[in-house]
Order: sequence, then C-alpha cells, then structure tokens
Amino acid sequence: MNEKQIAGEKAIEYIQDGFTIGLGTGSTVYYTIMKLGELVRSGLRITAVSTSEKTTKLAEAQGIKISDINDVQKIDLTIDGADEVDQHFNGIKGGGGALLYEKIVALNSEKVIWVIDSSKLVDQLGKFPLPVEVVRFGCKKTFDRFSALGFNPAFRMGGPFYYITDAGNYIIDLQLGRIENAMKLEQIINSIPGVVECGLFIGMTNTIIVGKNGDAKIILK
Ligand code: 5RP
Repeated sequence: MNEKQIAGEKAIEYIQDGFTIGLGTGSTVYYTIMKLGELVRSGLRITAVSTSEKTTKLAEAQGIKISDINDVQKIDLTIDGADEVDQHFNGIKGGGGALLYEKIVALNSEKVIWVIDSSKLVDQLGKFPLPVEVVRFGCKKTFDRFSALGFNPAFRMGGPFYYITDAGNYIIDLQLGRIENAMKLEQIINSIPGVVECGLFIGMTNTIIVGKNGDAKIILK
C-alpha cells in the first residue's frame, strides 16, 4: 500500500455512525472516500458535504450522497489532504485547486484531520507554490501587485487557458521559497482587493495522519 492510501484509509477510524463528514479533495482523501463508500454501502449512516465538484462526483459514484453545506447544522469531522504541513500544524493547501471550498468547510468543522504522505511534512512552509484564488476582474492588476511584493506569481493554467475554480475564479500560484510568518503573510494577501482566499491554513487542524514506512503515524497537537 502506498503512503497516501495508508493515511487516507486510517482516517476512516475517526468516523462514527450519524456523523456529518466534510470530504476534502485530492489523491490522498480519494482513498478515504473509496473506503467510506464501502462502509456506506454496508449500512453506515452519515451525512456528507463536499469541497469540490471532483469529490462530489467521486463520492456519489461510491454511493455517498452529498448534502449542501447550507443544509447541515454542523460538520462533525472533515478529512482532507494538504500540500505542505509544518511542525506548528500550519499548512499550504490548494494544489488541487479547491482551497476556497476546503477552507469554508474546514472553518465550519468541529474537527479537521489532514491525511498526507510523508513528503508533505516540512520544516518551513513555502517551497510548494502558495495558491491564491482571485476574481477574474482585474486579475492582471492583482498579479502585478503580487509581483511588486516580490511574490513571484504565476497564473495556474488548465491546458492553454487559465485554470478555473469551482467558484469560477482564477488561481495565482506564488513561488515564495520560504514563508517566515504565515499569519502575517495571510493577512497581507487576503487584504488585497481581488483576492478571494489564499491556501495558507493556519490553526485549522490538530490531527495529522501521515503514511510512512508502511504504517500510519498519527501526529496530535
Ligand atoms: C486540493 C488540496 C489537496 O488537499 C492537496 O493538494 C493535497 O492533495 P493530494 O492528497 O493529492 O496530494 O488542497 O485543493
């Protein structure tokens, strides 16, 4: 079993009958969703909300009904992946382009678990390009502002066109190298008009499941 599968499947142990589950997006949580599908088909009763159209399709194909986030009272647990995680449990997300919905779901969850392979654990955030979701209007001006701030921006492409998120926005990836102060950076980026949200997830999880050496390691805050 690869590290993603080990981590993704381990998270299933945290799901209880009757829970409302937030389903993240990506190739690690894929394994969570596949396993959850098996359990649902065997009688587990859960309500699920999704963080992307891709996850909705996958979950529904597995027999997991997806509810509108506006129709659930609370989300007991969200299981999601991450692109980088540091020792303070802060992370970069959005490599799969779903950062906005992922952040809304995480923020409204009682508990968030990240499932990752061991390559995602880092001493310092920033090697992975930081995704920022921006509205289309004035996006080149927003891009220029990032350049002026020394953030080395690049529009994310989907083939020959700009990549479009589920919310209809673009993503600009910032090649930062090192992020010294994630909280301050998040404030700077999110205060620029045109920015919808950035992929810095600070203080949102206290449980990380890492696939490593054929086993699942649980890191608790
Ligand atoms: C999608 C995400 C993913 O959780 C992140 O990119 C990790 O993905 P994977 O599990 O495929 O490595 O933030 O927007």
